[in-house]
Amino acid sequence: MKQNYLMPTYSPDDVCFIKGEGSWLYDDNNKAYLDFLSGIAVTSLGHNFKPVTDAIKEQAENLLHVSNLFKNNLSDKLAKSIGALIKGLHNWEEWDDLIDYGKVFFCNSGAEANECAIKLARKIKGPNKHKIISMENSFHGRTLATLAATGQKSKQAPFEPLPADFVQIPYNDIASAESEIDSMTAAVIVEPIQGEAGIIEPAQSYLKDLADLCKGSGVLLIVDEIQTGLGRCGSWFKFQDSDIAPDIVTIAKSLGNGFPIGACWATTEVADNFSPGDHGTTFGGQLLACSAALATLSSLMYMNAPIQTQRLGQIIKDKLSQFPEVDSIRGAGLLLGIVFSDLDAKQIQLNALKHGLVVNAPRKDTIRIAPSFLIDEVEIDTFINKFRQAVDDTKEATDAK
Ligand SMILES: Cc1ncc(COP(=O)(O)O)c(C=O)c1O
Repeated sequence: MKQNYLMPTYSPDDVCFIKGEGSWLYDDNNKAYLDFLSGIAVTSLGHNFKPVTDAIKEQAENLLHVSNLFKNNLSDKLAKSIGALIKGLHNWEEWDDLIDYGKVFFCNSGAEANECAIKLARKIKGPNKHKIISMENSFHGRTLATLAATGQKSKQAPFEPLPADFVQIPYNDIASAESEIDSMTAAVIVEPIQGEAGIIEPAQSYLKDLADLCKGSGVLLIVDEIQTGLGRCGSWFKFQDSDIAPDIVTIAKSLGNGFPIGACWATTEVADNFSPGDHGTTFGGQLLACSAALATLSSLMYMNAPIQTQRLGQIIKDKLSQFPEVDSIRGAGLLLGIVFSDLDAKQIQLNALKHGLVVNAPRKDTIRIAPSFLIDEVEIDTFINKFRQAVDDTKEATDAK
């Protein structure tokens, strides 16, 4: 199938999915594919998940859109639920005492959530304290400001000059953070696991040390949980494993189980620095997106998503460790990077697709998997069989060279 009228910002694999059900996708020839990528950590509850589909249908039949110039009856409830999960309260009954804890700005994507975080940090700290520090190899989005924070020179170069005073330091290197933070610094933005870089985890103490450093220096800490959050990595938010309290947390990807929605959460003290007119969006926080997100969150809570992802992730890791070709497995819960030193991960990805398995290769030596939290053990075995075939095909082709 040709795609002649789209700007060439992607070079998609030659497959067109037209239907999904649970962990399975179907192409235009009705071939079935086991989806172990979930749109890159988006459809955590699988495809066509009934509670979310029903919520969207019901809302669509009721009211699609008003404007943020008016109140809506869903966004405040959703904001409170997000705050509760960030605070570590997982029982609905515990949720009364959230006043003054935190507030949310809703948008439509991860980049917009980070854009909001950056604007908020700069507004608070003022014109003399506007430096934003991020990490080498990080990914925070494609808008100009989030690209300036994305620590990948190849992505930045064609668009220079980028907004000024964004600085990158090595990830997982607290000494670099100590020397870069100065009186001009507004905020540090960090991913608790670098997803696009190839599922790179920092040392256990890193986030805690970074949070302490930021606090001691009067610098805001923004944690980008866009790929890692909402149960994906065996905790509601990955930062919670480090016992820290970020000033700002950004969320998107899985929040609507595929319906576009992003959120920038900040402590009330920080959030209240925005005034009407400082930031805005036509679509962010609108009814349809909020209905999808509320249904997603209640299903994730009902199933106790972090426990589920810890358990399933461990089963997958144990099975993959039987592959002699696998060097190591990085990541947590159901966001895993399978590392190969002798095989090209992109070739494994393409061979997997031929065998009806969707995974991806964020870097040359790493396959990323991010399956739905509702996969069962039979599907895990199907994944292992298909992945074995893809690795064998890749080995054969590599040996034949
Ligand atoms: C950690 C992280 N931050 C930000 C983004 C940008 O999100 P979006 O593509 O929704 O703008 C992504 C997307 O992959 C991401 O993984």
